[in-house]
Amino acid sequence: MDRPVSRPRRNRRTGIIRSLVRETHLTPSCLVLPLFLHEGKVDVPIAAMPGCNRLSPDGLLRSAERAFHDGVGAIVLFPAIDESLKTKLAEECYRPDGLIPKTIRALKKQLPDLIIITDVALDPYSSDGHDGLVASDGRILNDETVEVLCKQALCHAQAGADIVAPSDMMDGRVGAIRRSLDSAGYTDVSILAYTAKYASAYYGPFREALDSAPRAGDKKTYQMDPANRREAIRELRLDEAEGADMVMVKPAGPYLDVIAEIRRSTVLPVAAYQVSGEYAMIQAAAQKGWLDERSAALESLLAIRRAGADFILTYFAQKAAHWLKS
Ligand code: PBG
Repeated sequence: MDRPVSRPRRNRRTGIIRSLVRETHLTPSCLVLPLFLHEGKVDVPIAAMPGCNRLSPDGLLRSAERAFHDGVGAIVLFPAIDESLKTKLAEECYRPDGLIPKTIRALKKQLPDLIIITDVALDPYSSDGHDGLVASDGRILNDETVEVLCKQALCHAQAGADIVAPSDMMDGRVGAIRRSLDSAGYTDVSILAYTAKYASAYYGPFREALDSAPRAGDKKTYQMDPANRREAIRELRLDEAEGADMVMVKPAGPYLDVIAEIRRSTVLPVAAYQVSGEYAMIQAAAQKGWLDERSAALESLLAIRRAGADFILTYFAQKAAHWLKS
């Protein structure tokens, strides 16, 4: 029998050897925790996202503190807005005393070092449930929407947001938001662009969480076609030219090839969003006893890092940080 000359298994022989040769590392510092908030006094569980709640102001502070304590340095805020405040023009999204600005101010008082990222898009505030303004014939209006997004981003910056993250996929919004922030003196507020955001079925549980599903139509005229990879590079070039500080791919797990492609094509930091449906799949299988939650979650996050993401938005952030420490 021919004996192998090369034996890759030698590098896997013990735990210490395996950690010497490990190519990718997952640490709490590369995790970002998205949190849902509402005006209510109690935390309300989200059925399709076990472990996640629509948080009260107190609950939000507690979740942020716990994550920060475990080494998660940044959170993203997503508001569930009362139906009565939703309008066609989504004016609530830039009200200085709205839920998001109010919450940013409270968080900054309690946890000044925690980095606060806000989502810039109209869907939680729009009676149409779209990320942009909807014309009478159903079209999503690009340039008119960008004007509202600029007001929203500025409102978040004024309240103390560190990073604004436009997730709306309108054309030209990164440049317009940059100019608005700069001309108001917010040159230190960063833009994390949702660069390659796909029209994905995996956002289902999130839309339930915020009650923000489109009332008519879908998001395919602005979010990207899941079939396209080259188009992600086109979006990347635009966002770079318009002044994005960081770029993002979303969803993450089913789009590892896109993450890798974006990683090769830019020197900017690359983020990936492990979205609600990715989280829900692991949770559902874990609840049935079909998957081990901890090892499946950590493996999914490691794979996203291996594909090239510098940091990951994930509903597992606090738990994963905790697991990584123990
Ligand atoms: C809205 C927004 C969505 C998500 C983040 N921001 C939903 C959508 O585009 O319909 C999805 C996040 C998730 O599913 O976890 N602009």
